[in-house]
Amino acid sequence: MKLVIDELEERISAAMASVAGVEGCAAIVRPSTDPKFGDYQANGVMALAKKLKTNPRKLAEEVVENLDLNDICEPPEVAGPGFINLRLKADFLADRLLEINEDTTGLAVEKADKPRTIVVDFSSPNIAKQMHVGHLRSTIIGDAICRMLEFLGHKVIRQNHIGDWGLQMGMVIHSTRQAQSMKEAVDGYERRRGLNRFPEGWPLELSSLEHSYKIMSKREKEDQQVAYAIRESTVRLQRGEKSEIDIWKKAREITLNECLRLYRMLSVTLDNEHIRGESFYADMLPGVVSGLQKKNLAVDSKGAVCVFPEGFKNKEGAPLPFIIRKSDGAYLYATTDLAAVRYRVDDLKADAIVYVTDSRQKMHFEMLFAVARMAGWASEDVELSHVMFGSILGDDGTPLKTRSGENVKLKELLDEAVERAKAVVEEKNPQLAPDEKAKIASAVGIGAVKYADYSNNRTSDYVFSFDKMLAMEGNTAPYMQYAYARIKSIERKAESKDVDIETELAGLKELRLTEPAELDLAKHIIRYGEAIGSAAGDYRPNYLTSYLYELAQKFSTFYSSCPVLIAEPAKRPSRLLLCDLTARTIRHGLSELLGISVVEQM
Ligand code: ARG
Repeated sequence: MKLVIDELEERISAAMASVAGVEGCAAIVRPSTDPKFGDYQANGVMALAKKLKTNPRKLAEEVVENLDLNDICEPPEVAGPGFINLRLKADFLADRLLEINEDTTGLAVEKADKPRTIVVDFSSPNIAKQMHVGHLRSTIIGDAICRMLEFLGHKVIRQNHIGDWGLQMGMVIHSTRQAQSMKEAVDGYERRRGLNRFPEGWPLELSSLEHSYKIMSKREKEDQQVAYAIRESTVRLQRGEKSEIDIWKKAREITLNECLRLYRMLSVTLDNEHIRGESFYADMLPGVVSGLQKKNLAVDSKGAVCVFPEGFKNKEGAPLPFIIRKSDGAYLYATTDLAAVRYRVDDLKADAIVYVTDSRQKMHFEMLFAVARMAGWASEDVELSHVMFGSILGDDGTPLKTRSGENVKLKELLDEAVERAKAVVEEKNPQLAPDEKAKIASAVGIGAVKYADYSNNRTSDYVFSFDKMLAMEGNTAPYMQYAYARIKSIERKAESKDVDIETELAGLKELRLTEPAELDLAKHIIRYGEAIGSAAGDYRPNYLTSYLYELAQKFSTFYSSCPVLIAEPAKRPSRLLLCDLTARTIRHGLSELLGISVVEQM
């Protein structure tokens, strides 16, 4: 089903072209900001009139005379200096609703006419670290982007670019090895006395890996001998020595298992098959450097190899280097990212590569894109986008931390959300069975954390507040989930009133939409595809949450002014359909596109 806005754009642009006798006119149709002016407004005539040096209002009137929108709108009205106001007809709305009703899976949202291959690089945690709140945004925003693009018919390739190579791995290996030898020594001594102080598996478990890694990265800076040993481990790993590879593999496996558990908990569509970490590109790094040298783009600078892309300057106005090899021969984050661009363009055949990371990496990606273009590794046809986001803040307005100043572990945050949601469910619905309550609490708790993140403009920071995200009022997950459950309760009530919804809706051929609240809701329902299009187009899930919130509000207005189950027989099927389509749209938006579960009752 073509979007109304696109249909209007096409027809009005064509009428403009024929009246003006020029090609390539743009009607610039936008949803009206005020219902007084109708549902949509075409703003393009003024610019055309300026170009033709003619009176815009007169031109608009001529365009309207040459326009046939009879099947969609009431007669268009010219307003102000040359706006064209458009109001959808009730019959048109009815046809659209019936068409949506027919499509039981996709709500009649049209697929992209030119499907693209889009690589989405997201989540990308680092080995030997537990995922903390800083990884939440990349993980869930990236996931929503993948889901929306896929739904629109694009081929999405998920890439989890985990940090599993380089000096940081040398630190993990060195610290693990030290811990192991200490354990052996202590074990030998203690065993003689029948004691064993070390837990099974230690130090190859996530919390000790993380702990010793942290200590090592401090000691590396302070102690030359430690720094040397870490470098040695790194080199041995990169040479493929078995003992280093063994520890590395184990550390990687332990970290990724925990990540996968979190992905499942968050309903994030990432799996083992999407992991393509930094280590994957190790063999390609020398080729990146020599490739740039051959093209005369890379130069030596104090022993390091750098590219100086045009337009990047430091505070003093000196050109900024994009360093691709350090003076000690080590490759960097940047080198790996260049190799990844090549791989994604050449092997994965990407039409677009989308990177979802926080805004502190803005400069890195700007320079990466510039260098990739200079080298011809990504032609102008390949879209390169950095989808960046702000920080999650605590009450004090600084990035969220625990009381002791540590990063908040994602797992603990989610557990607390579910715990708190239990209290909400308990208060709302104490008579539910315990396992039912647990299921709802998990949907509400996790949903609240995700929804709060999605509903914020991603480029801004936001303050994390359990109270706000778990509120039953406002643009929150519980409000949306409750809106859905409320419609489901109407359906349950119907049974007790002997209203057979299925029969009333099956074979429904005609609707009666007369009340303003019915029309208003119907107009919003048919705009679902428009909301997904703009959310996916700008990589902004908040466009979708805003749409869904407005839908729930319009439903609420409709439901309080238009009785459904006790409506007169001629009106009831139309109202039942409005209920059903609202519920289906909310469910689809929340669960299919945002990965937030809905519940039948709350
Ligand atoms: N591992 C990196 C980090 O934790 C994020 C990687 C983002 N993706 C990329 N291709 N650079 O900051």
